[in-house]
This record gives sequence, C-alpha cells and structure tokens, in this order.
Amino acid sequence: MSDKTNTQELPYCEPYKIKMTEAIRTSTRAEREQWIKDAQYNLFKLRADQTMIDLLTDSGVGSMSDRQWSALMTGDESYAGAKSYYHLRDAVQNIFGMPWFLPTHQGRAAENVIFSVLLKEGDIVPGNSHFDTTKGHIEYRRAVAIDCTIDAAADTQAELPFKGEMDLGKLEEVLKKYPKEKIPCCVLTVTNNTAGGQPVSMKNIRETTELCHKYGIPVLMDSARFAQNAYFIKMREKGYENKSIKEIVREMYAAADMMTISAKKDGVVNMGGFVAMRSEDLFRRAMQFNIMYEGYITYGGMSGRDMEALAVGLDENTEFDQLDARVRQVAFLGAELDKYGIPYQRPAGGHAIFLDAKKILPNLPKEQFIAQTLGIELYLEAGIRGVEIGSILADRDPVTRENRYPRLELLRLAIPCRTYTDNHMRVIAAACKNVYDRRESITRGYKITFEAPIMRHFTAELEKA
Ligand code: F0G
Repeated sequence: MSDKTNTQELPYCEPYKIKMTEAIRTSTRAEREQWIKDAQYNLFKLRADQTMIDLLTDSGVGSMSDRQWSALMTGDESYAGAKSYYHLRDAVQNIFGMPWFLPTHQGRAAENVIFSVLLKEGDIVPGNSHFDTTKGHIEYRRAVAIDCTIDAAADTQAELPFKGEMDLGKLEEVLKKYPKEKIPCCVLTVTNNTAGGQPVSMKNIRETTELCHKYGIPVLMDSARFAQNAYFIKMREKGYENKSIKEIVREMYAAADMMTISAKKDGVVNMGGFVAMRSEDLFRRAMQFNIMYEGYITYGGMSGRDMEALAVGLDENTEFDQLDARVRQVAFLGAELDKYGIPYQRPAGGHAIFLDAKKILPNLPKEQFIAQTLGIELYLEAGIRGVEIGSILADRDPVTRENRYPRLELLRLAIPCRTYTDNHMRVIAAACKNVYDRRESITRGYKITFEAPIMRHFTAELEKA
C-alpha cells in the first residue's frame, strides 16, 4: 500500500502566522448600557475600547504583514519626487495598468479630487449602489446619483454569484434620457459594498464599459475591494479559474477610464488612497485639486512610509492565498449563522456579513431605524460593534428633505483583514443567536434628536423611541 492511500487531506489554514497581538477589553452588560447611552445610541460615538469585537469597518484596521512593516522603515519623506512615490506609481501601473495617478489620504479624498474636475450642478452619475461618501460628494455638488444595481440585490435570500452587478437596462435608460454633457461618468463599484460586499462579474464589467463608451461616457471604477472582486471572478466565473488574481485585475481595469480607491481595504494599510486615470489631460486637470486639497502631486496626503507599505500591500493582497484566507473567514461566519438560521445577505460577501434586520426584527416600524436597533442590541449583548446600512445611512432626500427608506435594512458586520480568528467568528455568531432568540421582545427602536445636513449617520444622536 502506498503512503498516499493512508494520507488524510489536511484541513485548510491561514497562509501566515501571528507575530504581535493587541489585548481586547471585555465589559459587562451594565457598562455597555451606560456607554451606548452616553454615545447617544450611535455606535460611531463609542470609544473603541468599549467594544470587544469591533466590526464597524474593515477600513484601515487590517493587520499589515512583516514585509509592509519593514517597508515603512524605507519611506522617503521628501516633499517632492520621493523614492516612495515612484515605488507606489510602479505598483499602480503594474497592477491596474493605469498610467497616471495621484496619491490621496484616503478614498473619499480621491473622490473629492476627481469630482472637483468632473462634476457640476445638475449632473447625473449612474452607478451600482454608490458608496455613501461617493454619493455625498455627488449630492454636495448638487448633482444626482442614480442607482442602477440589479433588483436581485435587494432579495437577501437569492443566492447569486454576482449580486453586485449593474443592471444594463436601467443604465441604458439613464444614458438615453440625459444628454452626454450631463453625465460626466458612470461609477462601477467593485465589490459592491452597499449591496453586501457582492461582486461584479467580468462580463458585467465589460458590458457596462462597452455600453457607457457607446454613449461616450467614461467609466470610473470605485476600487476599494477590487482584489476580492477578482477573487470571486476566479472562483465563480467560467474561463477564469486558471488565471492569476493579478491577470484578472488587469483585465477588470483594461477598459476603465479612471479609478478611485480607498487603499485601506484591499491595500491593507491604515491610511491611503489614490485616483488614477488613462488620460493625461484629465491628470493635468486633477493635479491642481490634488495640490489644493491633499498635498503635492508626489505625496498628496500620504507619508512616504505609507506609500511604501501600500506598494507592498497591493502586491501581496493580489495573491490568491491571502484573498482565499480573507474571504473564507467571512464565509465561515456565514456558515456559523446558518446553523442558527439567522438571515443575512446571501451569499456571504467578500469583506462582511450583512444581517437582514427587517427579517430579524419584524415587529419594528421602519421609522424607528430597524438596523440601528439591531446594532445596538448586538452591542449590548456582547460588545460587538457593527454598522447600520439602512435608513439612517440613506439620509434625507436632498430636495424634499424627507427621510429615505431603502428597500433593505442591513447591519453590516465587517471583518477586518487578518485581525480576528475563527474563534471570534464563533462568538459573533453566538451573540447574534442570542439576540435572534429574543427578537419578539425587541419592539422599541430609536428616534433621531440631532442630525447633520449630509452624511448624518456618522454623528447623529438618538434616543429610545
Ligand atoms: N468607496 C467604497 C466602496 C468604500 O467602501 C469606501 C469606504 C469609500 C469609497 C471611501 O473610502 O473611507 O477611504 O474615504 N468605506 C469604508 C467602509 C468607510 O467602512 O465601508 P475612505
């Protein structure tokens, strides 16, 4: 008998080991009741050490690798022409194939720079679920964001491989209805964060860009989680199974005209972003805004050391093993929730699980902020902090000032990259089960007592309804 027949297939494990740890503070329910009240029932207003497992975001909170930490030490902090800038420029050109780029301090800063060039009052910007800062930048300039996401994205129980896609029919309607001069760009977000960390297929990327180009409209890729999107294409789209993540990323960006990126997600750095484009003319026009809002064009809001860490991060996190570990951990949390029958946006997203708050708390009226209420309950239960993707985030209509109630009320549990273990995932699932078990008794939500005129979710103050 050969050795092979006796060999058991080894289970899966992460392709890294952990060199440094950070202590977690635990707390009692009584403490958490006081803290959340002091925070005016806004999870953003909690101190981070008042949480036990912090799933507010995966942005800027991932664990850097030893290669990234050592790259920090090589940062060139020169004001102009720093070596680190050229390292990052090479990485951007290699990975995305975009010849021109401007570093910014994070994603929304990249949006600010590019939209300062592109947008004017009354413009129309179609997209697949614009992220809140993207929509904020559009609406702040009195332009209109039109959501053209496929309808199936709103059915949390539909298992679709590419649930974040653009509906080409809806998009074409917009492109037909408004003159070209009114549509400065179309925003394609990969993965689609707002719809549940759901990917967009290569086919849909190709067809979206072809359609836009037919009407003379450039495509801007919002790229915060571009590498997860490439991973899903490799795993789910026919013809891509044998391609490397880097090859897939190059193909994703082959027809795009420009990109903005929050590098704090798939770049696995604490701070950073950039805007990149094919057109030298656009680059020249964007330069002045970068200098005004961010910094000189060779650092634009980033330290040299941060540019070094990002150059390494972009390279490492477009390798299959890293992405496989990341996405599998989110899927593991999904599988734990399945054991308890807890409804969430299916299938599990690339960076987060989005709990379906309307299904979990059916007894609450939408005016009492269902997903926010679920978020507070989960915090009270176990010190776990998620984030509301519901009607507080949806804000008021900029014209009528009425509350907007989106189809979905979701509580996002974002999993920071390489930060928590599967044991943390088990605790999260058990805490969700405890809240789910007592769902009938949760009949009272919250009302807003203070809100900012735009992007109110960050600073809103609430009290019990
Ligand atoms: N685009 C997408 C798709 C995002 O998810 C984010 C940020 C941004 C743009 C803005 O980038 O934060 O670096 O300025 N998302 C974070 C989140 C905040 O928690 O999902 P930023």
